[in-house]
Parts: sequence; structure tokens; C-alpha cells
Amino acid sequence: MTTLTVNGEPVEVDRPDDTPLLTVLRDALGLVGSRFGCGQGLCGACTVLLDGKAVQSCDTPLWQAAGASVVTVEGLAADGPNPVQQSLIEHQAAQCGFCISGIVVRATALLDENPAADAEQVAAALERNLCRCGSHQRIVDAVLAARRLTP
Ligand code: FES
Ligand code: FES
Repeated sequence: MTTLTVNGEPVEVDRPDDTPLLTVLRDALGLVGSRFGCGQGLCGACTVLLDGKAVQSCDTPLWQAAGASVVTVEGLAADGPNPVQQSLIEHQAAQCGFCISGIVVRATALLDENPAADAEQVAAALERNLCRCGSHQRIVDAVLAARRLTP
């Protein structure tokens, strides 16, 4: 049994400790906002916060999250859309939306760490989050605009 905190709630998970965190979140806990894209750490669709740092949950084994705090895209919207989510909506930045959960999480981590991140820093942070719809420029614009909404 592995104990961790997910979106502020303590949870116990009865899965092998090498189970990918993404599998635990989606299949054991029903948190399907984190997406299964490549399953190989290449696309960023599964990005979550692990003790405040953006990680790709498909290549994070459960044991690495033992005793840690995990925040998924659902946790970021507990009180309504967070600034990144609100700005993505306002900019109509998503097309199919598949990549957006991971982008919200990674961009939120960036603005938490550097609320004044510039276009280059935003683009660099999102380099590992692929968007097959080609919405990257609108996504970067939306994240830059989110800076004014960030408390
Ligand atoms: S599903 Fe995790 S990086 Fe692609
Ligand atoms: S909006 Fe479709 S993959 Fe990014």
C-alpha cells in the first residue's frame, strides 16, 4: 500500500510500486484529466505537479510519489479556472484539447516559479508539451496573458 496526497486529499493505493503514476491517477483514482499520450515521457500530456514540480506522470513510478503531494489539472481548478485555464479559454487557444491538461499544469508551475516569465521562457517551458493541432503560438500568447491574472 502506498500513501500519498492527491489534490489535497490523502489517498492509499494498492498497486505495485513500479506502476506509472499516470495509471494510478486515471485507473485507480478516476482522475482522467491527465492524458495518456505517448506513455514514454515524450509528449507532456500526462504532466502533473509532484511536490510543486511539473513531472510527466507516465514515466514517474508510484514509489516516487510515496509520501508526496500530487496535484493534477483537476486540483488546479478546485475553485474555478486558474489564471492559465482562464486565459486559455479567453484566447480560445485549444483545438482538440488533448494536450491542454499537461500544458495547464506545466504553465502553472512556470508562473508559480517565475510570474514574470517572458515569451522565450514560456516557449522553452512548453517545449516538451506537444500539441498536434499546432496551437502552440496561441497557447504561448494565452500563458503570457495569464501573467496579469496571476495573484
Ligand atoms: S503520456 Fe506521458 S509524456 Fe506522453
Ligand atoms: S489542442 Fe489538440 S493537441 Fe493541442
